[in-house]
Amino acid sequence: MSTGWGPADDVVVVGGGAIGLAIAWRARAAGLRVCVVDDAPGRGASWAAAGMLAPVTEAHYGEEPLLRLCLASAERYGSFARELEETTGVDVGYRRTGTLSVARDRDDQEALDELFDYRRGLGLECERLRGRECRRLEPALAPGIRGGVLVTGDHQVDNRALVTALLGACERAGVRLLRDRAVELIVQRDRVAGVRLRHDTLTCPTVVLSGGAWSAQLSGLPAGSAPPVRPVKGQLLHLRGAAGTGGEPALLSRNLRGLDVYLVPRADGRLVVGATVEEQGFDDRVTAGAVLELLRDAYELLPGLAELELTETVCGLRPGSRDNAPLLGGSDPEGLILATGHYRNGILLAPVTADTIAELLVTGRVPALIAGFSPRRFATAGAGP
Ligand code: GLY
Repeated sequence: MSTGWGPADDVVVVGGGAIGLAIAWRARAAGLRVCVVDDAPGRGASWAAAGMLAPVTEAHYGEEPLLRLCLASAERYGSFARELEETTGVDVGYRRTGTLSVARDRDDQEALDELFDYRRGLGLECERLRGRECRRLEPALAPGIRGGVLVTGDHQVDNRALVTALLGACERAGVRLLRDRAVELIVQRDRVAGVRLRHDTLTCPTVVLSGGAWSAQLSGLPAGSAPPVRPVKGQLLHLRGAAGTGGEPALLSRNLRGLDVYLVPRADGRLVVGATVEEQGFDDRVTAGAVLELLRDAYELLPGLAELELTETVCGLRPGSRDNAPLLGGSDPEGLILATGHYRNGILLAPVTADTIAELLVTGRVPALIAGFSPRRFATAGAGP
């Protein structure tokens, strides 16, 4: 055991992606002694993501509670990013650029119109544009673009800078970081007593499980308590050279979405193109077919990207849940709190997840914002993700 007199930590956070690190940072700020366990912190899905913060553009039928949570988190992003930057000196690349969704053909246009009506019906801020209006905003768009929808409130953050800053903020705040793998939850008399790691054993009264797609792999969880999350593969490309030079505008100045692809331009000319959505288990290989499809779909929207340098291909495993919404709150045994299953919204939901889970840790009460996301909603729905 790591301690002589009792637990060294009030809380052990299993999983150091954007979610686990943000929770650890907030919980430590609230006065708790916190340890994060991860053998490669910040290098999972949080590293692979594109960093689009687009609750309105990505609002889907039947997911209104999730939309409300995403909007609440988007609202917090400005102050979350500022606080991180002030604490660590790391620019997290929070850019209030807006997002333009575009249609290449009549089918795309019909799909976009339907989504527009749905989003407007919910009172969300979005504007329908003709093809020429889209090109006025983004002159490098393909000439055949028929129309689009502009959402000025959907932004972006540089997810890699974000996890770098979160690691720095945790370190400065006094969060312990163990580069190790959690293998088993230790349960005594029906409550959490600690976590067994590959190279250590920790005693603690509370464990936050934020292991993303790997959350269900922790052994020792009571029958029926393994979070029903599964890996959903996403492949992405990184390009470079899209910044304007010699008075020329940048190739792209805001997030751009087609029906099957999105492009996220960084201020320094990097461009992230994503992403596939594949049910392939824990396979994290980048495939030639995915690169082909992503490049073809992106090229159809923005032909000028053919001139850019392809610098990286990357794959991440999103933690998908049965209803695409996260699992947030207490589970069995007592002392186990889940913060996982964020699926396509892990980067966006980091601020609201961190604030609410830290509040739950400190007060023992479930904040109203996450009451509808209890892991127990799946308890009677049968096993498996
Ligand atoms: N949120 C975008 C993605 O998961 O690909």
